[in-house]
Amino acid sequence: MRPVSLVLFLTFTLLAFNAGHILPGAAEGESRAQKVWARAGSSAVLPCHLSSRKMAKSWKQMSDKISVLWKRHGGSAHQEPHMVLEVGYSGLRKTALPMRPRVSVQDSALRNGNFSLRIDPVRSEDAGLYEAQVAYNTEVQSCQVELGVITVTLSPPSPVVENEPLLLSCNSSHRASLVETRWFHNGRLVPTSGTFCSLHGALSILRPATSDAGSWCCQLRYSDNEIISATYNLQILGFDGPTNPVVYAAPGSAADLPCTLSYLPSAFGINVATAHWSHLGGGRLQDWGISQNSSSRSFPLRLPAVGPGDAGHYRCAVSVGSKTISRDVTLAVVTVTPSIQGPVSEGSRLLLICSLSHPRGHERFQWKHLDSTPTTSKLAAATSRNLEGHRSQTGPTLEIPRVSQKDMGTWECSVYGPEGRLGAVEYELQITGAQVSSPPTIFSGQVTFGLTLTLFLLLTVCVLALALQKRARSPAFPALEGMVAVTVPRKMELEENQKGKIQQTEC
Ligand SMILES: *[C@@H]1O[C@H](CO)[C@@H](O)[C@H](O)[C@H]1NC(C)=O
Ligand SMILES: *[C@@H]1O[C@H](CO)[C@@H](O)[C@H](O)[C@H]1NC(C)=O
Ligand SMILES: *[C@@H]1O[C@H](CO)[C@@H](O)[C@H](O)[C@H]1NC(C)=O
Repeated sequence: MRPVSLVLFLTFTLLAFNAGHILPGAAEGESRAQKVWARAGSSAVLPCHLSSRKMAKSWKQMSDKISVLWKRHGGSAHQEPHMVLEVGYSGLRKTALPMRPRVSVQDSALRNGNFSLRIDPVRSEDAGLYEAQVAYNTEVQSCQVELGVITVTLSPPSPVVENEPLLLSCNSSHRASLVETRWFHNGRLVPTSGTFCSLHGALSILRPATSDAGSWCCQLRYSDNEIISATYNLQILGFDGPTNPVVYAAPGSAADLPCTLSYLPSAFGINVATAHWSHLGGGRLQDWGISQNSSSRSFPLRLPAVGPGDAGHYRCAVSVGSKTISRDVTLAVVTVTPSIQGPVSEGSRLLLICSLSHPRGHERFQWKHLDSTPTTSKLAAATSRNLEGHRSQTGPTLEIPRVSQKDMGTWECSVYGPEGRLGAVEYELQITGAQVSSPPTIFSGQVTFGLTLTLFLLLTVCVLALALQKRARSPAFPALEGMVAVTVPRKMELEENQKGKIQQTEC
C-alpha cells in the first residue's frame, strides 16, 4: 500500500512540475487559440515559447534541428493558410511579401525558445488566426494565436489642431454585435453630454483645446460580454500660454510678442513651420514672415523700439503642414501724462497719470520714486515703501500737492495683474528755479540778514549826512526834517518785512 501511494504522489508532483513549465501558447495539442488584442498603429506580440526543459533536452540531442514556421489562417480575403515567416534549421529567415517589413522573431529564438511573432505596426487587415509550428527533433509543437485589432480613427487626421472639430471613433475586428462604447480621458469616464457628444460610439469634440490632449481610452462592450479597450495618446497642436496674451511696454522700449506652439512640428512628422505676423490696428496692415526649422516651436515678433502707433492687436498665424492656426496678441503701451508739460516750477501742484492703451480692466498701478544713483536703487526701492505717503503709492494717478526739490528725478509706474508685474514706464521729473532756492535755507537766511544790515547802515549814514547838511545850512526848512523823520520808519518796516520772510523760508 505505502510504496503505491508514494509512486502516485511522485507522479502527480512531476506532472504539476511539468505543467508549470508549459507557458501560454505552448501547450501541445491545445485546442483553444490564445487571443491577443492590439491597436492599429501600435505593435503586437503573438506569444509562442518552448519550455526550457524541452529546449535543454533537444540541445543535448540534436541542437541544430529546430525550425519555426508562422502561418496565417486567412482572414476574409485570404482563404488559404499562407506563410508569414519561417526560420530554418540553419537560421535562414524567409518572410512573405504583404507583412515582410513588419514581422520578426527574436534573433536568439532558436537558442532561448522564444518564437513569439512581433508585428510592428499592426494594421486593421492583420486581424485573424495565426499558427506557429515549431519543429525540434522529430516532434512538432504548435502555437495558435488569434490577433484582434482595434482601430482608433481620428477625423480629420493628425495633426489635430485646437478649435477644429474633432471626431474620435473606435471599432474592432470582433464579430459579435457592439452593445456600448464608453470613453475615458486620463482615466476618468467622460460624460457623453455637454462638451463631448457620443454618436454611434464615436466621440465628438467641438472645440478641442490643449487641455483635451492626453490619453483617450475607448471601451467596447459586445453582445457576448467581450470587453475590448484601446488607448490613444492625443496631441493637440495649439499655443502655449494664455488665450489672448497682452504684452505691456513703455514707449521706446523693446517688446517681444509671444507665439509658441504647444509641440514641436516634428512631433507630427512635419519639418517646416512658418509664422506670419500681422498688425490689425488702425487700418494699417503690416506683415512679417518668420520661418523656423523643425527644432523650434517659438515664433516671437520683436519690436526693437515701441512707438505710439505700435499699440494694438496683432495676429500670429502659423502654418504647420496643411493647417494654419492663429493666435491674437495685444500690445498695450504704458504711458505717463503729466498735468504740467515740460519742467515743473517748485511749489506747484502736479498730477502724473499712468494709463494703458489697451486696458483689460484688472490691472493695478504702483508709483515709486527711484533713487537717481543706480547702485543704491535696490536699497531705495526697499526704503521708499517706508517713506511718506506719496513716495510709493498705488492707483493710476500720482498727486504731488507741492512740488519740491526732493521730488526731482525718476518716477516709475508699474502695472500689476493677478499674474504679477506686467510692465513699467518711467517719468523724469524736472524742476525749474533750482538755482534760486537750491542753497540751504539757513545760508539764504544769513545772506538776507547781511543785506538788510548793510542797507540799514547805508540808510543811517544817509540820515546822518542829511542831518549834518541841515546843520550846515540855515534851519529854515522844517518840512525837510519831517520828511527825514518819515523816511526812517519806512526803512524799519522793510527790515521787519525781511525778518518775516526769513522766518517763512525757515519753516
Ligand atoms: C519574446 O520575444 C518577443 C519579441 O519577439 C518579446 O517581445 C518578448 O518580450 C519575448 N519574451 C520573453 C519572455 O523574453
Ligand atoms: C474600422 O474602421 C477603419 C476606418 O474606418 C477601417 O479601415 C477598418 O477596416 C474597420 N475595421 C473593422 C474591423 O471593421
Ligand atoms: C534650428 O534653429 C535653431 C535656432 O532657432 C538652431 O540652433 C539650430 O541649429 C537650427 N537647426 C538646423 C538644422 O538648422
